[in-house]
Amino acid sequence: MSVIENSKLAIVGAGAVGTSLAYAALIRESAREVALYDINSAKVAAEVLDLAHGTQFTGASRVTGGDDLDVVSGANVVVITAGARQHPGQSRLEMAGVNVEILRDLMPKLVERAPDAIFVLVTNPVDVLAVAAQQFSGLPPARVFGSGTVLDSSRLRWMLSERVGVAISNVHALIVGEHGDSEFPLWSQARIGPISLADWMLARSEPGAARSGGTASLGSVPFSEAEFESIAEEVKNAAYKVIEGKGATNYAIGLSGARIVEAVLRDEGAILPVSSVLTDYRGVSGVALSVPSVIDAGGIARVIDVPFSAKEQALFEHSAATLRASLDTLGL
Ligand code: 2OP
Repeated sequence: MSVIENSKLAIVGAGAVGTSLAYAALIRESAREVALYDINSAKVAAEVLDLAHGTQFTGASRVTGGDDLDVVSGANVVVITAGARQHPGQSRLEMAGVNVEILRDLMPKLVERAPDAIFVLVTNPVDVLAVAAQQFSGLPPARVFGSGTVLDSSRLRWMLSERVGVAISNVHALIVGEHGDSEFPLWSQARIGPISLADWMLARSEPGAARSGGTASLGSVPFSEAEFESIAEEVKNAAYKVIEGKGATNYAIGLSGARIVEAVLRDEGAILPVSSVLTDYRGVSGVALSVPSVIDAGGIARVIDVPFSAKEQALFEHSAATLRASLDTLGL
């Protein structure tokens, strides 16, 4: 990968997520300049210095930043990570009110300074905040969206990859809906290499056989419903588990954010499950949920109309209703 000339990524919030995203973006050369903003002057200055001290080893990117919002000026992509953090046992939706108010103040100021940028929300509850940011900015949904279930899909792919012993890059599976408790895997469309997950045969008695035993990965047992359900539960609860152990999730969301930024700055046309305000997507309108979306320099070029099974359609509608209820309590 090579860095894109003159590309500027601005990150709002220099907490655990913002700084991990900056670190990932520098190492991956996602942008030419990574600018970090935070209201806490001492913290942001220290984070910028710490990152800058390592740039001998990160390629052609440079890092800037400070406590003046002007650091975002002229950014091509603005990623928003600022907000209250999720405490152990707290759901993402419970943090909504305070973070909506932060955005109400912030969005017009950001748009003023980076009028041509694509805005990516990472702060939780990301689907609620994607709606709020889109409304407060006045920009089209294609230019203001959330990181959504890009991370959850990576968690799912990692779990499947470990289970079947195939490279994560060859596991194609998506989590859609809310980035939160009502999310679900799109099992009907999941594949491993060219094989539909429903047709994949496991050597159930030998969970480790796939990597070490030649063709042993192809046994005679398909995934069971119970196994699908337990994987879905594990993905859903993955963040709670990490937060319980270390107080926050940061590395994987940092990498996910950097990946979204690259898809924009490189004008890739990559398909990623980001969260945007939907208009009649499988009957759902006016809420932001993650669905596979084509990402290019303009943001979301289009959402892809994936066939859902009847069960998936019901889960999607449930996710939409959950979000709608939350938006209603916030007057959004
Ligand atoms: C995550 O899923 C907490 O939303 C954050 O890691």
